[in-house]
Amino acid sequence: MSYESDDAIGDLQFPADFLFGVATAAYQIEGAVLEDGRGASIWDTFSHTPGRVHNGDTGDVACDHYHRWASDLDLTASLGVDAYRFSIAWPRLFPRGSGQLNDRGLAFYDRLIDGCLERGLKAYPTLYHWDLPQALADKGGWKNRATADAFAHYAATVMDHFGDRISAVSTFNEPWCSSILSHLYGIHAPGEKNLDSALAVLHGQHVAHGLSVQAMRASRDTVPLGIVLNLQSLYPATDRDRDIEACRRHGTFHNGLFLDPLFKGEYPAEAIEHLGDRLPEGWQDEMRTIAQPLDYWGLNYYTPFHIADANNSQADYPASIQIDNPDVVRTDIGWEVDGRSFHDLLVDINDRYTLPPCYITENGAAYNHGVQNGKVEDQPRIDYMQQHLAAVRDAMQAGVDVRGYFAWSLMDNFEWAEGYNMRFGLIHVDYETQKRTLKQSAHWYQALIEENR
Ligand code: FCB
Repeated sequence: MSYESDDAIGDLQFPADFLFGVATAAYQIEGAVLEDGRGASIWDTFSHTPGRVHNGDTGDVACDHYHRWASDLDLTASLGVDAYRFSIAWPRLFPRGSGQLNDRGLAFYDRLIDGCLERGLKAYPTLYHWDLPQALADKGGWKNRATADAFAHYAATVMDHFGDRISAVSTFNEPWCSSILSHLYGIHAPGEKNLDSALAVLHGQHVAHGLSVQAMRASRDTVPLGIVLNLQSLYPATDRDRDIEACRRHGTFHNGLFLDPLFKGEYPAEAIEHLGDRLPEGWQDEMRTIAQPLDYWGLNYYTPFHIADANNSQADYPASIQIDNPDVVRTDIGWEVDGRSFHDLLVDINDRYTLPPCYITENGAAYNHGVQNGKVEDQPRIDYMQQHLAAVRDAMQAGVDVRGYFAWSLMDNFEWAEGYNMRFGLIHVDYETQKRTLKQSAHWYQALIEENR
């Protein structure tokens, strides 16, 4: 089994019904933040706060997709993909998170979803790709149970209105990011650094997920429902016992706090031993709500992590730190490239949990190649995708039930705290002119899909 970049397209054979797609998220591409009654989200607030986002970039204009959706869908269809994964901006539908429904917001996603169908693209919306309505954040955000109720109402509204035209709904995208990265590490909106907050948000989002699944099923029980996780593929930084042990704890915290409640209806016992009294009161009573049966789960995967013991008796559980491997291939954002770690993760999770079928809902690489003579020569992105698709193929041969792959991303976009500095697209975006240029990787993906027909 090789994870060199020598897997030719011909070696990347997938079953006939395997789904190929591309993915985006609302705040990263839409722009038009003040248009048609959209309310503010925490990412508007955060990106407009000096020092939070690289270069002071914001999503105010982004890829102007709100106006260019039709030509963007033409480009999407030209890739030959089966499906388009996008997110619905909650504050376009409910400008204040709850209360008055905004018809003009609904109308935009009507155009987008109908536009997908007209072009033969299946629509795979995500409900929460991090744009919490600011009005709800002002009342405590995910720490407030009212936010979970508002989310369930928003989810039911989406299902009532769009359920006849969409192929699946993912509730949350990477709840790790919207809890741990946003409330413990302070890197994403709202930029808090507090473990108790992070745990309250994590639990509140789990509850919101469960309530939203119930609400959507009550509206229409034929649309497959799932959640998208960014699980970490972990390796001890050394073969010392304490690092091996730290790596295990790290997995219990960063993966277990998501997988276990969602799929087993419980938090990992060891995490509860250390952190149970810091979870919101009454959490035990909500575990059944959280663990709703799902039709699929989504995995977003980019890079492995090497973990060592924090060596600090004062550190909170899991008291682990991340160590960067020297001498490895990295993308422009600094993330290590290692297809094998993707394969290992898929196989390991499949061994340890009973899960519904999996979709790879994001995978891709940041390389900042520009346009030269009308072309973008991004061979390293092709190498990355080749390696990672080979990993998926091999995991499937090892028995993991993977049904599809969505490349991140359709086009370059607002990369959160990195602003426009990091380009993940198969399609290059010139932010001055909004001109789109298919990169070499887009043509490669097109050929791969064609070959798999
Ligand atoms: C994931 C996010 C996605 C994008 C990629 C690079 O964590 O879900 O929006 O930013 O990383």
